[in-house]
Amino acid sequence: MATELRLRDGSLAMTWALLPTDREGVRAEYEHLSPESQRHRFLTPVPHLSDTLLDRLVDDVDGVDHVALVLFVIDGDHVGHPAGLARIIRYSDDPTAADVAVTVTDAYQGRGVASALLAELLRQRPDGVERLVTEVAADNPASLAMLRRLGPTTVTRDGGNLLRVTVELPPPGTEPVDSAQSDRTPRGSTRS
Ligand SMILES: CC(C)(COP(=O)(O)OP(=O)(O)OC[C@H]1O[C@@H](n2cnc3c(N)ncnc32)[C@H](O)[C@@H]1OP(=O)(O)O)[C@@H](O)C(=O)NCCC(=O)NCCS
Repeated sequence: MATELRLRDGSLAMTWALLPTDREGVRAEYEHLSPESQRHRFLTPVPHLSDTLLDRLVDDVDGVDHVALVLFVIDGDHVGHPAGLARIIRYSDDPTAADVAVTVTDAYQGRGVASALLAELLRQRPDGVERLVTEVAADNPASLAMLRRLGPTTVTRDGGNLLRVTVELPPPGTEPVDSAQSDRTPRGSTRS
């Protein structure tokens, strides 16, 4: 099912669940990210996605404990290039907690893509997940800002350039903090 969203800058966008057939698209889009965005995503320089990493990023998505969404900005009547990809992965040793990761194409950063994607991802989060626990680079204020808007947040230094971030999520069915700009309209259409 596709979901229609409106970004903070007024653009219309759509999200879909990531599919196994998106594997090569994920690989190609990653190659276009700036080195800084690549480093912020994986907390270390990763210039290319290996097949092993793609197995985890694409094949391991099960829609139950690992949910991943892609976002396309609508350009007139056309679905444009993918602008963002977000995922939530439940921790196997703590079913009430999950990691989260978001990547927005450099050209689309700062337009509200991550905020809209995360709001939708949390609506589709694995059952029983109450908090996000993740690490972000200390020199990545956008990442910290996008997490803080999701709920009460605790940040501790995790050594070196890393911050450990815990976000207590509002109960399911409650709108995420400050997600008012996300104008959501579910659609029954499917990806062709
Ligand atoms: C971090 C990232 C996902 C944010 O995506 P985005 O679409 O640009 O974010 P949004 O436009 O939705 O903005 C989210 C918040 O970050 C803030 N923000 C955006 N760019 C910022 C910047 N350069 N510096 C400081 N804050 C910034 C926004 O103001 C907003 O905060 P607010 O809601 O308090 O106003 C994006 O920069 C990215 O993909 N970076 C590379 C990969 C990465 O760092 N992923 C995160 C770790 S997994």
